[in-house]
Amino acid sequence: MATAIYPGSFDPVHNGHLDIIQRAARQFEIVVIGVAVASGKVPFFTVDERVEMLRNAIGGRASLRVASFGGLTVDFARAEGAGAIVKGMRAAMDLEYEMTMAFMNRRLAPEIETIFFPTHPELSFISSTLIREVASLGGAVDTLVPPGVAHRLTARARSAPPVPAASPRARA
Ligand code: PNS
Repeated sequence: MATAIYPGSFDPVHNGHLDIIQRAARQFEIVVIGVAVASGKVPFFTVDERVEMLRNAIGGRASLRVASFGGLTVDFARAEGAGAIVKGMRAAMDLEYEMTMAFMNRRLAPEIETIFFPTHPELSFISSTLIREVASLGGAVDTLVPPGVAHRLTARARSAPPVPAASPRARA
C-alpha cells in the first residue's frame, strides 16, 4: 500500500496545507499528516492543539490520518511504513529551505523519496507565520484557514503577546 507522510509545523493549519493534503490523497492510498513536536521554532499552539485543528479540518477520511512526532522526519516516515515525504512548494522562497531538507532527508534515508507539490497559485501567499501575525493584529483570516481555526487564533492572540512580525521570507 502506497503511504506518504506530510510533515510540518502546522502552527496553525491553513488552506494551503489542506490543498496539498487533498492532492496528496489522490496520489497515495494513505497520507499520514505528521505534526512535528520539534521544528526549531517556538510554537504558537501546542502540539495537541495543532493535531486537533488538523483532525477537525480533514474530517473522517480513512485514507488520512494525523499524528504528532518527535525526532527525525525520516524516522517517522519509516515508522509509518511510508516511501515518500510530501511537501508543498510555494515559490522561490521555499526552494532553498525545502531542497536543503530534501537533500538531508535523502542522505539519512535514501529509500524515502521527497515529493513536492507546487502550491495552488491562489494560496501561495499564505503562511502560518503571516496568518498568526495578521490575526494577532486584528486582521481577518477566516478565508485563509479552515473553520474553527480563525476563532482559536483570535482567542489565543488576545491572551498572548503579539507575534514577531513576519519577514518577507516567512514560511510554513
Ligand atoms: O512546516 P515546516 O515548519 O516547514 O516543517 C518543518 C519540518 C517539521 C518538516 C522540519 O523541521 C522537520 O523535518 N523536523 C523534524 C526534525 C528533522 O527531521 N530535522 C531534519 C530535517 S532535514
